[in-house]
Amino acid sequence: MTGGTSLLLLPALGLSTGVRSWQSSYKSTFSSLLLKLIPQDKTSTSRLDIGLVLSPSYSISTTSRSTLFGQLQNVLKQAYSLITSVATSQRIDLDFPGGIDIRLFILEPRVDELPQKVVGKQSLSGPVVDIDTFVLSDRSYNTIYSVEGETGEAQLKQFLTTWGSRLKGEPPPVVRLPSGPAIINPAEPPSPVQDGPVTDHASVAVGGTFDHLHIGHKLLLTGTILAAHPSPTQPRLITVGITGDELLVSKKYGSQVESWSARQERTAEFVDSIVAFYPRKASPSTSANGNGLRTTEYIDEPGPNGKVVRVTYKSPPGSTEQEIIINYTQISDPFGPTITDPNISAIVLSAETRAGGKAINDKRKEKGWRELDVFEVGILDASTASEDDSDAVSKTESFESKISSTEIRRRLQERTQ
Ligand SMILES: *[C@@H]1O[C@H](CO)[C@@H](O)[C@H](O)[C@H]1NC(C)=O
Ligand SMILES: *[C@@H]1O[C@H](CO)[C@@H](O)[C@H](O)[C@H]1NC(C)=O
Repeated sequence: MTGGTSLLLLPALGLSTGVRSWQSSYKSTFSSLLLKLIPQDKTSTSRLDIGLVLSPSYSISTTSRSTLFGQLQNVLKQAYSLITSVATSQRIDLDFPGGIDIRLFILEPRVDELPQKVVGKQSLSGPVVDIDTFVLSDRSYNTIYSVEGETGEAQLKQFLTTWGSRLKGEPPPVVRLPSGPAIINPAEPPSPVQDGPVTDHASVAVGGTFDHLHIGHKLLLTGTILAAHPSPTQPRLITVGITGDELLVSKKYGSQVESWSARQERTAEFVDSIVAFYPRKASPSTSANGNGLRTTEYIDEPGPNGKVVRVTYKSPPGSTEQEIIINYTQISDPFGPTITDPNISAIVLSAETRAGGKAINDKRKEKGWRELDVFEVGILDASTASEDDSDAVSKTESFESKISSTEIRRRLQERTQ
């Protein structure tokens, strides 16, 4: 039920750029773009992929993912916050029928500075991918949007030049969107960027209900993939604990809670779109679109954490990347596999679930296990939503409602009455 996918190439602002500067630069961009993307059919959703193109102020992608976590999650958070506030003020739905499903990933444009043997071949490096790999990937877009201005033009040109030199066929049509001045407001303190733990992690966990997947979940899941370091010698292992149905029966508007399978499938479908950038045709022996390289196993064993949907991403022939294994595990307590799998070494959470992280580490300490390193994603910032409105409280409420599963269930419930 998708109304087509568009791509926006968006220059990421500098490292310490705070929410006001994002707003100054890109409020007009999103105001004009979101209106264009509202689906005609009120039962469908249109999809917008946004490649946030890194600026030179971000460290180069060969650095450990742990040390990049703070800066990259900040840029994702700023962009998702701005999108949510623009959608709020224009009364456009996100992740709801008749609205737009927006997904961010990060594009590395400095292909000249990367080892040449990896350029164009980083199919499994998501959510950070070099422009060549992205252009060669199996994504198809109806329209490419880019932003006016020098940086936007230069990045668009790089994308189209790479397309022209490496692919047959015309690229999708390009539409340029307005953008505002990239002013750094001197009154605004730099956005705090917290350094993550410095150790590289091969096995990272996250947990949640993931009911009616929304932007808050998307930021958390993207942070999780980001925290797992793509090492040349070890597979990346991701454990996504998804709360079992029996723990959700007493939730508000419980009849609208999605089943475990529906929540798992939606989560996996989102993760797939930020993790895998398979080439259009991997090799003559495999069909296009990474078929045969992605496999899904359904495991159902008795005992805790026994129900697992396990997705494996193998690297395409000729690539030096390691595979990625993602366990979507049904959990029946707040701990899940973090206290049964000693190999998990880090957890990703939000400021709201800090306490849960501490409880997990207390249990691990009791067992004599190493505590998990904690990566924290920020809370989406509603301050851009309330700024130019005297009715600040209700605006904030409706910003919150775009990132609340309970609110989404309430609205779905209303529609059935
Ligand atoms: C994933 O689930 C499978 C099946 O339960 C299990 O064997 C494996 O240890 C789990 N963890 C990882 C990281 O693969
Ligand atoms: C932990 O890692 C070791 C070595 O890679 C492996 O043999 C073992 O099966 C893993 N344990 C679990 C519970 O996944």
